[in-house]
Amino acid sequence: MRLLGEAFMSKTESSSESGVSRREVLRRAGTAGLGLSVIPTQRALAQNGRPGANDRIVMAVIGCQGMGSANMQRFMAKPEVEIAALCDVDEARLPADADRVEKKYGRRPALYKDFRKLLERKDIDAVVIATPDHWHALPLIYACEAGKDAYCEKPISHDITEARAMDAAVKKFKRIVQVGTWQRSTREFTDALAYVRSGKLGKIVQTRAWKTDSAKVGKVAVTTPPSSLDYDFWTGPAELLPYSANRNHYNWRWFLNYGTGMTGDWGVHMMDIALLGMSQTTDIPMPVEVTSYGGKYSFPDDDRTAPDTVQTLFRFKDPDYVMHWHTGQDHPGLPDQGTEFIGADGRTVRVWRGGWKVLDPAGKELEAPPAERTNDHWQNFLDCMKSREQPRSNLASMAQTTIVCHLANVSYLAEETVRWNKEKMDLVGKAGRDTQSYYREYRKPWKLPMHKI
Ligand SMILES: NC(=O)c1ccc[n+]([C@@H]2O[C@H](COP(=O)([O-])OP(=O)(O)OC[C@H]3O[C@@H](n4cnc5c(N)ncnc54)[C@H](O)[C@@H]3O)[C@@H](O)[C@H]2O)c1
Repeated sequence: MRLLGEAFMSKTESSSESGVSRREVLRRAGTAGLGLSVIPTQRALAQNGRPGANDRIVMAVIGCQGMGSANMQRFMAKPEVEIAALCDVDEARLPADADRVEKKYGRRPALYKDFRKLLERKDIDAVVIATPDHWHALPLIYACEAGKDAYCEKPISHDITEARAMDAAVKKFKRIVQVGTWQRSTREFTDALAYVRSGKLGKIVQTRAWKTDSAKVGKVAVTTPPSSLDYDFWTGPAELLPYSANRNHYNWRWFLNYGTGMTGDWGVHMMDIALLGMSQTTDIPMPVEVTSYGGKYSFPDDDRTAPDTVQTLFRFKDPDYVMHWHTGQDHPGLPDQGTEFIGADGRTVRVWRGGWKVLDPAGKELEAPPAERTNDHWQNFLDCMKSREQPRSNLASMAQTTIVCHLANVSYLAEETVRWNKEKMDLVGKAGRDTQSYYREYRKPWKLPMHKI
């Protein structure tokens, strides 16, 4: 693995070609972004019983304050990680996380607006990508091209074409990418998955996943963007619309120009478990046929463009079974999110954030033995960076789950049944190709690189 120490020893301290010391490179790198900080030498950071430079993983965060901050704090709790830089197109989203880094390491991180500048830094081993969904593909692909590993948030992409481009880049540049579907590493889900995968439930004929959607966005009030935000950069490859706080931070997920609605936002977690349980590996089944129905039925006057009500049926072959996805207002008697596996004899495994159960056909609880514990999702990524093994939520696998979610949106937008060919990783026939969940042309000057594997 290309760890910090090696990167610097080869490129700077030991290098006569540049004639620039490691301290100087760090100093320059620290002032390359918004010019607000200087990073101390690795030697200084190796004190206080922390790992030496050669064992340390230097990370940066692209997209702060929301999930970027949550991930950053997970990584900061790992002794081998050091956070060197933060990047956000909204300056106002940086200080809170910069304060956290300063408190932990005794120095402020370098701050950037443009992730391309951050990726030029040779000392950074891995990036966290926690931008909105329309801004995952380019940072991830450029990170791969720059030789970085990545912890990339879910759903991996805004559309199917981006997911394929990301998969190709990760494979071509042999990068390790963990996607933020952390349920793959948490107790109730690993227990339930181990039970289902053991065959104890027998033949599985149906799976089901759901999430309540009660997100009322209201009306889009158009205003001037805040001075801290580069709104053109925030919009990036998406269509440039008049600024509204209602479509900006966090709320972008309810607008299909940027996000994927509840189907991509939570469906990618809950359907992921339903798909993973039907495989013994992270290469998961994909449906051959997908039909969605839904609309803005609960909040018809709301300005969100993503539907608030969706029901999708997915048909699988070899093995033959169906999966049902449901998002809407309520689920009487059930947790507000969850996944179920239903056996041919009516026994059911139900798992949700907080617990799991095995039920007989009458609803009586059966014995549910726990599985072996795993390490956490963030540690799994760090371990895989070192071993170069594939992490639990590797990009190829999460491209599959993400595409399954996109297929639900493709069918919803196309208002017809769509068909999928897993071998070709493409739609069969014309149905669905004209939807933005299959392909959306990038706004200039942004271009989606399509690497050949
Ligand atoms: N794994 C999980 O459980 C989980 C939970 C919540 C969110 N997420 C995912 O995390 C991602 C971020 O979601 P959020 O709710 O934190 O969004 P958010 O809008 O709160 O934060 C995104 C940040 O990215 C910044 N940004 C936008 N474009 C950028 C660019 N080109 N370069 C740098 N910064 C940019 C924004 O200014 C903002 O500060 C999404 O993909 C979301 O689906 C995952």
